[in-house]
Amino acid sequence: MAKQRVLSGVQPTGNLHLGNYLGAIRNWVVNQAEYENFFCVVDLHAITVPHDPKVLAENSYAIAALYLACGIDLAHANIFIQSHVRAHSELAWLFNCITPVNWLEGMIQFKEKAIKQGDSVSMGLMDYPVLMAADILLYQADRVPVGEDQKQHLELTRDIVTRFNHLFAAEQPVFKMPEPLILAEGARVMSLTDGTKKMSKSDPSDQSRINILDSPELIQQKIKKCKTDTERGLSFDNPDRPECRNLLGLYAIVSGQTKEAVAIECREMGWGQFKPLLAESMIAHLAPIQAKYQEVMLDRAYLESVLRNGREKAEAVADETLAAAKKALGFSLPL
Ligand code: AMP
Ligand code: TRP
Repeated sequence: MAKQRVLSGVQPTGNLHLGNYLGAIRNWVVNQAEYENFFCVVDLHAITVPHDPKVLAENSYAIAALYLACGIDLAHANIFIQSHVRAHSELAWLFNCITPVNWLEGMIQFKEKAIKQGDSVSMGLMDYPVLMAADILLYQADRVPVGEDQKQHLELTRDIVTRFNHLFAAEQPVFKMPEPLILAEGARVMSLTDGTKKMSKSDPSDQSRINILDSPELIQQKIKKCKTDTERGLSFDNPDRPECRNLLGLYAIVSGQTKEAVAIECREMGWGQFKPLLAESMIAHLAPIQAKYQEVMLDRAYLESVLRNGREKAEAVADETLAAAKKALGFSLPL
């Protein structure tokens, strides 16, 4: 039986942080052998908010290198850059014309990001989830591993499948219904400066996040200063201690232990004892990823060959789906 397909992506905006890694990329790695995987760097999404053309390409390469550094295995996965496969933009346009505007106006991420843009909210920002639907559906993906915050976008993708197939492909569906793959562990990594807010690239304070490429000294310093409380004895269970729950959860993942084991280990600890432990485990967990990243970034020819290969494989699948969608919509064939 053919393997099920997985598609996911990360935007090349700023540094990747622990939320991106634990919520998304690590889960891609853990399950990759079970699936046929497509992992893209979603650079077209990155221009939905103001961006700097001077660093866009370089950031995209860096994210692709991080995919490799985090353990994506080319025996199971294709890595490519979204804008290199034209079908993404084209299918997004087709979907634009069948997606009611009111499906997009209420999206949480749109509203959050729009507030920050004042009067210059782009059409692209509102359209972001439609492009994401095109990413997923071009590959007929069965599974989409993402963090919790992307759930609403996946719902929209599913609504687009239903609508398209219903209106234009009732007899033979063009698009497959994708399922989100959201693992409980790491699905929502919280900010180091406020345990009730998610860790995010767009938080103005770098102190609020651990970036995958932060140096050991910086990680130590960020954890030393991160927000905690005054209670002794650490536990997952107290809803009034969001920071405590977040940091213990991070410790469990980076030290490779179960939550239960961590709950027992830390039950009588104070922060002074716990923080150095967390910092050490985090540094040790990230060290091999950082080393591999440096290695890949120094070998540009290799990285380019990975992306060229990935694009070719992606394009073959994407073009076929796009042709089926255009046929269903009644377009003539190009002469
Ligand atoms: P983005 O940075 O928005 O391109 O997100 C890339 C991936 O990281 C998506 O799958 C997100 O769901 C995931 N992600 C981003 N922030 C977090 C977070 N704080 N906790 C868990 N997952 C996250
Ligand atoms: N919107 C996703 C995020 O912010 C990134 C993304 C774009 C994506 N296209 C995708 C994720 C397709 C999964 C599948 O994290």
